Amino acid sequence: MRTVLVIDDNPAVSTALELLFGLREIRTLHADTPARGLAMLADEAVDVVVQDMNFAADTTSGEEGIALFRAIRAAHPDLPIVLLTAWAHLETAIELVKSGAADYMSKPWDDNKLVATVENLLELAQATREVARFRGERRRRREALAAKYDLRSIVFADAATERVIELACQVARADVPVLITGPNGAGKERIADIVQANSQVKAGPFVTVNCGALPSELIEAELFGAEAGAYTGAANKAREGRFEVADGGTLFLDEIGNLPPAGQAKLLRVLESGQFERLGSSRTRTVKVRVISATNADLPAMIREGRFREDLYYRLNVIELRLPPLAERSDDILPLAQHFLEGEARLDDGACGALLAHAWPGNVRELKNAIQRARLLCAHGVISARDLGLAAARVPNQRPRGEAEPDRAMIEDALTRARGVISQAANSLGLSRQALYRRMEKLGLKVDA
Ligand SMILES: Nc1ncnc2c1ncn2[C@@H]1O[C@H](COP(=O)(O)OP(=O)(O)OP(=O)(O)O)[C@@H](O)[C@H]1O
Ligand SMILES: [Mg+2]
Repeated sequence: MRTVLVIDDNPAVSTALELLFGLREIRTLHADTPARGLAMLADEAVDVVVQDMNFAADTTSGEEGIALFRAIRAAHPDLPIVLLTAWAHLETAIELVKSGAADYMSKPWDDNKLVATVENLLELAQATREVARFRGERRRRREALAAKYDLRSIVFADAATERVIELACQVARADVPVLITGPNGAGKERIADIVQANSQVKAGPFVTVNCGALPSELIEAELFGAEAGAYTGAANKAREGRFEVADGGTLFLDEIGNLPPAGQAKLLRVLESGQFERLGSSRTRTVKVRVISATNADLPAMIREGRFREDLYYRLNVIELRLPPLAERSDDILPLAQHFLEGEARLDDGACGALLAHAWPGNVRELKNAIQRARLLCAHGVISARDLGLAAARVPNQRPRGEAEPDRAMIEDALTRARGVISQAANSLGLSRQALYRRMEKLGLKVDA
């Protein structure tokens, strides 16, 4: 239950506040001395403290109140504290608000104002706790994953990325082809690296072929090798193909969508039987190679257009790892930015906001470039939004006017995505926080669900 601790030597104050908060289903604890208050904080889960500034009838200096405030701050740095103060000490109270007290009220206080303040603080405390809990859980899961697998120092914090990495680790040991899909610069090669590093053939060779970087006439020779003079322009020395080099290990076929039809047919055969011939040779060779492929192309669309073999597609994508665009895993943005800064500069709040708002069509590669440029441009090691020079922000996810009220499923979905942070969920639904609360109440949805 939401709990407020009142620390005041005057029993009338405690009783009045208990009544006032009790009407709002807020539990009130009281302590009549600073020492008892601190002891209670050590034992009980308190969300907000309301404290007096003077504790002995003959003192009016406010010194005890200041000392109490400092002691609470030291032991509970994030606990919101509301100061109750006599008119004579408003200045002291204002000073304390500057050093981190949540708010102050002069005695006699205005009930409505005090309740509104406490309610706000409780809501904020709840949101902060939720976020901290989710972060903590996610960190623990990440650590567990890193303890179990070799993550190749990939940087991530978003749950969506974590799912892809976890799946990559789980399928790494199986001897099945893996297809990694995702847009440009999303980090597909990093995922391929993780699959190889956790595979049973991790000690074997790891060979990469970028099918997009070679002219189509050369790809076949590159993959399967060629005898001397096998094709026009071929060297007069036999050449070993990448499949032979990768025997006993892993072959990473990047940009697989660019493999021409003849290469596709040959690749299908190696995947099925491990067999192939070098160009210009009739001798069949057999290899054992784990194939990982990657593409940013829409292979199903290419199949419909007759540009990619359907049978090869099903062979390659026994396991498909879909890496979402960076904008869809926004919790990765700031950790990646920090990583690319290499401790050489820091981001101010405006820069963090700009990074989070940008759409990142070039994904992680674009982020890396933006950070490297800003590192050079920034003054005194602090990067501002201007140093980043990012184009227009992503349009916030607002509900268009006149659209139907969000239903239960939409609200639950928004709450889950916002990890229970009401204001964020409300924002994504295009509602005010109050309107969302009313709606939740009507639907019988619990705030802390
Ligand atoms: N999670 C990550 N942690 C650290 N660095 C990353 C991460 N993701 C991507 N990068 C870096 O971003 C750049 C782009 O990543 P990568 O080359 O893996 O993308 P890609 O999906 O293969 O792109 P393309 O489709 O253009 O080939 C690389 O420099 C890579 O090291
Ligand atoms: Mg790549």
